[in-house]
Amino acid sequence: MALASKLIDIHTHVYLPRYCSLLRSRTSVPRILTSTRDGKPDDRLLILDHEPSGGRPVGPQYWDRDEKIKFMDRHGIDLSVVSSANPWLDFLSAPEAKTLALELNEDLEQYCSESPQLSSSSLKRLYGFGLLPLVPGISTSSLLETIDQISKLSYLKGIIMGSRGIGKGLDDEALDPVWAALEKAGLVVFLHPHYGVDEKAWGDKDNGHVLPLALGFPFETTIATTRLILAGVFDRFPSLRLLLAHSGGALPQLSSRLASCIDHDPVVASRLKHDARWYLGKLYFDAVAYGPEELGFVADVVARSERFESGRPANMPPTVARTLGSKRMLFGTDHPFFPPLQSTEKWKSVVENLQAIDSVAGWGQAEKEGVRGGNALSLFNLI
Ligand code: URA
Ligand code: ZN
Repeated sequence: MALASKLIDIHTHVYLPRYCSLLRSRTSVPRILTSTRDGKPDDRLLILDHEPSGGRPVGPQYWDRDEKIKFMDRHGIDLSVVSSANPWLDFLSAPEAKTLALELNEDLEQYCSESPQLSSSSLKRLYGFGLLPLVPGISTSSLLETIDQISKLSYLKGIIMGSRGIGKGLDDEALDPVWAALEKAGLVVFLHPHYGVDEKAWGDKDNGHVLPLALGFPFETTIATTRLILAGVFDRFPSLRLLLAHSGGALPQLSSRLASCIDHDPVVASRLKHDARWYLGKLYFDAVAYGPEELGFVADVVARSERFESGRPANMPPTVARTLGSKRMLFGTDHPFFPPLQSTEKWKSVVENLQAIDSVAGWGQAEKEGVRGGNALSLFNLI
């Protein structure tokens, strides 16, 4: 099979063994609660505040590389770009976060470098996103040192980060040296949620994890990216490559409203070099949206944003927009999250995302292959 038609998962997580040991040693969230039921291990992952139902069942699929490869084989995934799962190092002190970031980056490099060879290619089956010690009180030099470390680890192609920055969010000017170094190193920044939005919004009914995961996560990404745009980060670092989890949340749907609000706001109106929608055309979006209409819509919005004419998103034929926009979208699974509730050969969450890519109106073979893997080969400089 040609490299361009490989299936590549760019949104897939791991809790590396060293991180799991830390979670097991903790007595407050985030933690892994170790217990047994009927004589068998019944470990639970507690990572969100007020985690419902005593936490999520957690097992080797969260940390064992062989399980990741088995999952990939079962779903026909050739190559994965693996990232540590939330909440990363956010809850640690600055010295702890720095030490653990450096160690986990080495661990992930080894996890990838010792993975099987991808057939008929010089690639391995696993690559990764490293971690930065993004916590309050960390020095800029520690962050830059970690970026330097990651840029020298050949299997790490980017970094994953949450929305808190070093405590004040991603619009904090103190992060400018970090954006500059990431841009210079050509590392992809995978922006991923963890905190959601104010939990008061969810009311008092027990709806499991549905509201924080379906709505809180994508809105967190929407807000974080919007703040980044409003802070002029892309004006200062135009070559920064930012990949948004969950297809950018609500940002594509709200981008024209955002542009209008900026235009009508005396504080912000003249701050940015471009219309707000222009910045969407610089972003990359995972295809973890579970439906073809949503993927098609993101492609349309992104393509028109990428080509601006007379201060407005380009007015191009729908077929052209769909094709162009598809180039900024990349398949993902969110494994090992969203396992099927009843045991099945293939995971519904994966099958649905693959079917969605396959059913986008106007996407031909080339666009589908791009989203399934070809775009990842280019974004991560794998060819
Ligand atoms: N739940 C999480 O906590 N993280 C993910 O990435 C997906 C689901
Ligand atoms: Zn995820």
